[in-house]
Amino acid sequence: MAYRLLPANNKGGVGRTTTAVGITWAVAETGRRVLYVEMDPQGDGDRRLGVTAETKAQLLAAGNPGIAGVLDPQNKGDNAVGLADIIVPCGWDDPTAQFIDIVPSLTQQDLELRGMESHVPGAVTRLKRALRRFDDSKYHMVIINTGSSGGHLYQMALTATDWVVLVVIPDVDGIKGAMRVVSYIAGDANEELPERADPVKFVGWTVNNSDGSGDHRAYGNENDDEPLTSFIDPFTRQPIPQWLTMRHRPAWGSAMSAALPPSQIVHAQTRATVMKIYRAHAAELVKAGI
Ligand SMILES: Nc1ncnc2c1ncn2[C@@H]1O[C@H](COP(=O)(O)OP(=O)(O)OP(=O)(O)O)[C@@H](O)[C@H]1O
Ligand SMILES: [Mg+2]
Repeated sequence: MAYRLLPANNKGGVGRTTTAVGITWAVAETGRRVLYVEMDPQGDGDRRLGVTAETKAQLLAAGNPGIAGVLDPQNKGDNAVGLADIIVPCGWDDPTAQFIDIVPSLTQQDLELRGMESHVPGAVTRLKRALRRFDDSKYHMVIINTGSSGGHLYQMALTATDWVVLVVIPDVDGIKGAMRVVSYIAGDANEELPERADPVKFVGWTVNNSDGSGDHRAYGNENDDEPLTSFIDPFTRQPIPQWLTMRHRPAWGSAMSAALPPSQIVHAQTRATVMKIYRAHAAELVKAGI
């Protein structure tokens, strides 16, 4: 079975999707196959992987219902739509694209609806069951992207994954959001979320959006919380730097390795640093057995 990974933090905007896409790219660069599963109704990650709005509209018109269709309570029986029916290729013009497939979210509203159906019996295991019915043998990793709320879509994702990587920003709220994930998993999750043979495990935590000045490890102490470092290992030691301007940002919609001149979109040095750090993430995952 493919290694299943969920980037998590209960605070929004910390870089879960950035991490999911960065790790997807870096693992694909090693020649390993990745299936990216979009469970955030906003669908930012599948877009960053090159599934454009136009592509989404075409897929819908051609009868592909996206992840929301697979998770629909009415989607059952012999003609049920499975993950294999809705997978689309990565849209990057880059050699890594051949190793990346995407389970897209095609309309925000439809996936939001799935998030409201927690009362339907068995709803929380729906993604897990869809993955169980799907032959993932050609993939090394399945990476699941969610929104920030601790709501139903997140619980579905947490039920389906085996591993969690905490995405932390050097900011009090960012640390607290990560701590909420930790306490939920340590406390109730493994009992509340059914059909788990093993507890959800942490592969570690990673720091995003670092301005390079502060020590994120100090924030827990300053705020009377136990610092994350005391019980979970860092995933990689080097934080992803803060991209200072739009110009420094990775060229979403194309791979980070895309050969853009430095003057365009991504500053060459920032891009090189970010690529190096995501490669370190991939190396850790390879060590972890993906
Ligand atoms: N290292 C960084 N430096 C500067 N901006 C960043 C960095 N990482 C992410 N961002 C930007 O911050 C925003 C949030 O990042 P991202 O979408 O990855 O976070 P998220 O946790 O998935 O957010 P959401 O709650 O919307 O799902 C995006 O606009 C992204 O481009
Ligand atoms: Mg996101």
